[in-house]
Amino acid sequence: MFSKKMRTRGLAASVAVLALGLAACSSGGDGDDNSTDGGDSGSENIKVGFSQLGAESGWRTANTESVKASLTAENGIDLTFVDAQQKQENQIKALRDFIDQGVDVIAFSPVVETGWDEVLQEIKDAEIPVVLVDRTVDTTVEDPYVTWIGADFKQEGTTAGEWVKENAPDAKIFELQGTLGSGAQVDREEGFDAVVGAENIVGKASGNFTRAEGKAAMEAALQAYPDMTLVFAHNDDMGLGAIEAIEAAGKVPGKDIQIVTVDGVRDGLQALKDGKFNYVVECNPVFGDQILDAIKKVDAGEDVPKETIVVDQAFDQTITQETIDGRKY
Ligand code: AHR
Repeated sequence: MFSKKMRTRGLAASVAVLALGLAACSSGGDGDDNSTDGGDSGSENIKVGFSQLGAESGWRTANTESVKASLTAENGIDLTFVDAQQKQENQIKALRDFIDQGVDVIAFSPVVETGWDEVLQEIKDAEIPVVLVDRTVDTTVEDPYVTWIGADFKQEGTTAGEWVKENAPDAKIFELQGTLGSGAQVDREEGFDAVVGAENIVGKASGNFTRAEGKAAMEAALQAYPDMTLVFAHNDDMGLGAIEAIEAAGKVPGKDIQIVTVDGVRDGLQALKDGKFNYVVECNPVFGDQILDAIKKVDAGEDVPKETIVVDQAFDQTITQETIDGRKY
């Protein structure tokens, strides 16, 4: 098994960093949208099978839109896109279907880190290169992917923790976790907890990165941890669900209970501007063009960096409406 370090760093021949040029103002529902854009058209286009993990959040919707806008026939791609509805078994089935279809390149965003050994070996045996997108894998298969493009989740958690340490050092923290076992949950939690210290965290529960489950987890937490003063939600959608639960309990989000989140989707940043969120660490989903570029190079056998990190920023309540309205998602 790769160590954590090896999983995200050790295999790297080099690391590319993408600055996506979004404005910063501080320091720092599941669908079944399976589609084929071209399929086996007999063209010279690159046949790509893309397994998206779901449609659980505003972030995911924006990421899917970006992927579909870039991986088009006009751009030389015949895309088969499959939404796994946050179920690993659906993703594994899609990956096996891609092998059977004889695609040129497989791209996928794994819902959780483990459980991919068998299918990754099958892909390797079929000699189909893998472009890993967004989340990471933890596998015994050697060199399981050619290149990975995504955010530094641990750094996102660290950035959130540093804001809490500086602005709410005595906070009693409830952590609203993303999908348990996903790279985004594991690494954000590791980064955050290391900065704020375990003794300041009163409880944790998963909201599976969705608004509805975030709200339900928060309702239970308000009963279980009545002394909490701050929520760290691993994404905006769960934080937005937490707002509903806090208001229903007669408390004021952003004041009685502060909320720190990750993503920076428009609804989240609006909640920040409205004083209901206190700090948002960005996780930028718009990197379809970088995926396209990687797929073309991988298909052509050109050198690609082992990792490409999408750079994030962070926002506090000084964010302007102009900044929010100017964003792409
Ligand atoms: O993997 C990225 C995370 O997945 C986003 O932060 C979250 O909104 C999504 O569900």
